Amino acid sequence: MKNILNAPFLTEMIRTATNMYAHGWDERNGGNISMLLDEAEVRKYLDFPAIVRTIPTGFEAPALDGRIFLVTGTGKYFKNVQYDPAKNLGIVRLAKNGTEAEVLWGFSDGGKFTSEFPAHMMSHVARMRVNPENRVVMHCHPANLLAMTYVHDLDEKAFTRTLWQMCTECIVVFPDGVNVLPWMLCGTNEIGLATAGKMETARLVVWAQHGIYGAGRDLDETFGLIETAEKAAEIWMKIAHLPLKNTITDAQMHELESRFGVKAREGWLEP
Ligand code: 13P
Ligand code: ZN
Repeated sequence: MKNILNAPFLTEMIRTATNMYAHGWDERNGGNISMLLDEAEVRKYLDFPAIVRTIPTGFEAPALDGRIFLVTGTGKYFKNVQYDPAKNLGIVRLAKNGTEAEVLWGFSDGGKFTSEFPAHMMSHVARMRVNPENRVVMHCHPANLLAMTYVHDLDEKAFTRTLWQMCTECIVVFPDGVNVLPWMLCGTNEIGLATAGKMETARLVVWAQHGIYGAGRDLDETFGLIETAEKAAEIWMKIAHLPLKNTITDAQMHELESRFGVKAREGWLEP
């Protein structure tokens, strides 16, 4: 059995959590990450079926039965993940129609998965349907996106168009745009279902006055999505109060579409 602390999925998760903290996106225990693992890969590092304990999930997700996830722990600080991965992270396998999570590794202080587990798992189900390559769901609290939700219209098309106009590459990185949920109580199945619904049409979902969710193929791609949206929000927060002299026009956005082979969300650009 290989040492799990050297597993690429674990080292990459540690690096990502550390980097997210360094970006200021994850104060205290803010933010959470889940990543779908390949069972054959996990078997190189863990005995099967050595179940440490089982934890009820509080929801049903039959599509995830038998699926294994590496996930951050509730109440755990991203800044500490690198120093004690076994305490701050866990590997769980979903069972019994997704109503139970079998802990295979981690949560070593008796802890459990993030309180946002419903939003993560339901989003995985939604994204898998759209693109089976999606393996990562990431949530964090980037300051500029959050700030924007206090002063910008929360209409998804308007919010997305503003972000697209702030940096040339935004439309290339997230042509599907950004969906937006109004403020809702976090950590519930309700916000989980609502987030998953929004994940059917975009890989970024803003939670007004709270933060953002991103979904992608791997940790790098998902991090990059959030990073790009947050950069755009930062620019908007710098210029929104100043007289606007220039912007990226819809005609220029269409040039970007052809140059980079992407298609903007239907109807969100002028023809
Ligand atoms: P957890 O510590 O339970 O992951 O919660 C952090 C958070 O960001 C809630 O939205
Ligand atoms: Zn949060």
